[in-house]
Amino acid sequence: MKIARFSRIGFIMAAAGSAVGLGNIWKFPYIAGEYGGGAFVLVYLLTVLLIGFSIMIAEMLIGYLGRMDTVSSFEELAPVNKHLWKFGGFQSLAGLFIMIFYSVVIGWIFNYIITSLTYLPATPKEAEIVFNSMLHTDFITQFFYHTVAFIWITYVLNKGLKGGIERMNFYLMPALMIILAGMFAYATTLGAFSQAVAFMFAPDWSKITSEAFVTAVGHAFFTLSLGMGAIMTYSASLEKDANLVKNAFWVVFLDTTIAIVAGLMLFTFLYQYGSGPAKGPGLVFISLPAAFYEMGIVGNVFAILFFVALAFAGLTSSVSLVEPMVQYFIDRFSWSRLRASLSMGLFFWFFGIFAILSNIDGAKEYLTWGGKSFFDWVDYVTAAIMLPLGGLIMAVFVGFIIPKSKVESVMKSQLKWAFEPWYFSLRYITPIAMFVVMLSLMGVL
Ligand code: PFF
Repeated sequence: MKIARFSRIGFIMAAAGSAVGLGNIWKFPYIAGEYGGGAFVLVYLLTVLLIGFSIMIAEMLIGYLGRMDTVSSFEELAPVNKHLWKFGGFQSLAGLFIMIFYSVVIGWIFNYIITSLTYLPATPKEAEIVFNSMLHTDFITQFFYHTVAFIWITYVLNKGLKGGIERMNFYLMPALMIILAGMFAYATTLGAFSQAVAFMFAPDWSKITSEAFVTAVGHAFFTLSLGMGAIMTYSASLEKDANLVKNAFWVVFLDTTIAIVAGLMLFTFLYQYGSGPAKGPGLVFISLPAAFYEMGIVGNVFAILFFVALAFAGLTSSVSLVEPMVQYFIDRFSWSRLRASLSMGLFFWFFGIFAILSNIDGAKEYLTWGGKSFFDWVDYVTAAIMLPLGGLIMAVFVGFIIPKSKVESVMKSQLKWAFEPWYFSLRYITPIAMFVVMLSLMGVL
């Protein structure tokens, strides 16, 4: 049982810190670019509102009522078949698996902070060579920064919920917001800003294929940190009289705003100084540094600030990816926090080494199966299978398993007239949507 409780603002910062991550600043702009902008952004926004928001409340509710690690919370709240429902809590494993590559990407970002101090690539071609040579040939650099990320994250986790997680978010989240706000303000003064706005908000419906739709739903889940026990574990430390709807609103609002702001800013820079709305995962590591180079000295400062903000976003999400499993070992096996944090840290550090190797020439042949590297497999299995499954289980659990009277006793007064629509969506809309997403991400549909 835990004693530590988040402060009111501490919870919002920590949950928003979890949600605002590489997904917002690295992934959202490039998938928006890939699927043609406007219409995709609109589908994403609708999904966040209609599905994301309601699942966020459901996930918070399980944590808030259960008050323990995810496995124990499921077990505690299921009226019957507890021994089966407790497996719902193993969605927390997804977070630990994600960390295997998330930590490696944070390592790349650390590396970019340091190199941006002295160097920016002059052309997108050069930037591509730099990125690819790090990815495919430079094991040592990736290993070194991945290890730095591991030490940082494990250190914070070991300091605990208040002294570690709440505290780090308390500093890094405002810093991140200030950096992005400053760079965004600068972007609004540039001529290309209106082009970026048009790109992101003028819908071109012909671009909306079923694949775009599914990607938007999947991303809404990932970016809000749903389906992996992160929000659930944090919510177990909510104050007794917390208003879940208000908390969920703030997290969704901050997460969405930051994704939109980051997208507008990046596309403005790319239109103004670069090659237009670039696509693909290389957007922030390839197209963007080349655009920064074109800006002159401001670009150097911006590059450093941008990668610092990205690192902050990644680190605050990382602790939430690992904390559910840390809490699990503390609650169920009475491990000390040090032992739990270090073991979980060593787990993702160790497998992270293989994620790095799976991109390195000479080693990747041994770590590639079915055309996907180990790195990509971890991403795929977590995003395509574990995460929608986690969402599905939570929706069914709150919609059908926890007695309605119990759900009502907390949510009715907070949701008021919206209670029934919310409950309906949990029962019928979300499970079906999650199922379809899962099948189609798995390639069945
Ligand atoms: N929401 C984070 C992002 O957008 O990068 C990623 C994430 C963190 C997903 C924590 C899930 C989670 F439990």
